Amino acid sequence: MKNDIERVLVDEAVIQKRLDSMAKEIEKDFPEGPVVVIILLKGALVFAADLLRRVPRQLSIECLNVASYHGGLESSGQVDFLDRHFPVVKGMHVLLLDDILDTGRTLAAVAKRLKEEGAIAVHTGVLLAKDKKRAENVQADYVGFEIGDEFVVGYGLDYKGRYRNLPYVGVLKLSAAT
Ligand code: XMP
Repeated sequence: MKNDIERVLVDEAVIQKRLDSMAKEIEKDFPEGPVVVIILLKGALVFAADLLRRVPRQLSIECLNVASYHGGLESSGQVDFLDRHFPVVKGMHVLLLDDILDTGRTLAAVAKRLKEEGAIAVHTGVLLAKDKKRAENVQADYVGFEIGDEFVVGYGLDYKGRYRNLPYVGVLKLSAAT
């Protein structure tokens, strides 16, 4: 698996250190009271698990399956909600977590749906944000790292379902993207 990585972009220790400060920002910003965290599967799973254990607040955790990349290297441009049931968020403060902000379509579509479902406020957090023009006018409230506009894997992010368990974020070798 490591042999498929061209270079490490954000190493394990740097990620863990940044999560400490992100958790503090989140703890400071959220009002006392119940908070629902929505984790976008599967990419945000590793990031969310490490981040949320650092937030000493009462959180309930829900997961949502959405698809936008459909396993390849390019966003399909369409965001599909794959679950039969949408989490109950009416009257709740919501923290929406995704792995990466790319075109912005995913966060925009999910945040819009959460508001339609009655969330009081939706804050968004991503591990990575690509430095590029977004298709949607969307920003994340919490960004772990700004990166260049290149395809990355590891720490939850995949290529065709692989590399999610790498403990760092790296760039895939072209020869591995088959
Ligand atoms: P949008 O374009 O909606 O994209 O902001 C967000 C979703 O696209 C996936 N994505 C990536 N996945 N490496 C990946 O493994 C990448 O470089 C990458 N860029 C976008 C990801 O699923 C994210 O939730």
